[in-house]
Amino acid sequence: MYALYTKHLSSKVQRVRGVYNLYRYSTTSVSDSLYGCKIGEHEKTTTLKSVQEKYERGVALTAVTAYDYPSAMHVDLAKIDIVLVGDSAAMVVHGHDTTLPISVDEMLIHCRSVSRGAKSALLVGDIPFGSYENDDAQLLKNAIRILKEGGMHAVKIEGGSRSRVSAVQKMTGAGIAVMGHIGLTPQSVSLLGGFRPQARSAKAAVKLVEQAIELEGAGCFSIVLECLPDCVAAAITSSINIPTIGIGAGSNTSGQILVYHDLLGFMQHPHHAKVTPKFCKQYAQVGKVIQKAMTEFKNEVRNGEFPGTEFTPYKLRSRDRKIFIEMLGKAGFLDAVHRMKAYK
Ligand code: KIV
Repeated sequence: MYALYTKHLSSKVQRVRGVYNLYRYSTTSVSDSLYGCKIGEHEKTTTLKSVQEKYERGVALTAVTAYDYPSAMHVDLAKIDIVLVGDSAAMVVHGHDTTLPISVDEMLIHCRSVSRGAKSALLVGDIPFGSYENDDAQLLKNAIRILKEGGMHAVKIEGGSRSRVSAVQKMTGAGIAVMGHIGLTPQSVSLLGGFRPQARSAKAAVKLVEQAIELEGAGCFSIVLECLPDCVAAAITSSINIPTIGIGAGSNTSGQILVYHDLLGFMQHPHHAKVTPKFCKQYAQVGKVIQKAMTEFKNEVRNGEFPGTEFTPYKLRSRDRKIFIEMLGKAGFLDAVHRMKAYK
């Protein structure tokens, strides 16, 4: 009786532990402070706290975009700190010329796929153009969807205007971690008149420093600085106490981010070559590798080299083969019988 009771109790404890572990490993930011668990296993998971700690220790932060399960898995396996499900998906995945057309529902598909592939990085999802500008209710509804339905740990919002600072305040007030993004903000391409480097005058540079300070005050945990002169990025970085993540902003930031397809050199297609930014180093030429493989496949199918015996693994046992030929013959499929007899 006692043994049964202890067994029942221990399975109950195990179940509770299971739920607890699920929670502990699926969340990124609260577990250690709330439960006081030791720095150990979940040290593997990047949290807002570990991002801030790395920043304070002067460790350069790394971030890469991802849009689906395999890209997320590769980024995560490389132990990149932050995976951004960027609205750049509109361009590099959906083939649009700008980031404007992507919707929240489309972003959510990317977010969910990435959250299944990346298990240790901090996951940040972009709030897409047109999904938050109307009012606070729309903003909060969509930011919450990105966390709840998309499995993201934080959202990113573009811009440093008064309305954006207030949007950040609303979201952080609702318990949502927010990454800012200033400089070239592609969602404002219509206003900026194209994808152009920003802060090219002293006045514009000062404005960006002010915006960064305001975004920090509103509760951003980090700010992306896109396409700025490196001295402006350096001034912003040293004026705030949260990490800056640069893209086309030189090396005086707290970390760097690149778009997955740009970094890997996917863009061999002339349309894509056109939009690969000049600041982007291509660490591989994946596009060339893919193109070569596709052409080889086509050629080998055409000349009969593929699949060949090596890639034809499924056989009929000889007894069944004989019966099969007999049955084909009885049914009058004589061409098939000849064909069957022609090869071993
Ligand atoms: O959408 C995106 O990929 C981005 C990065 C360029 C920072 O915002």
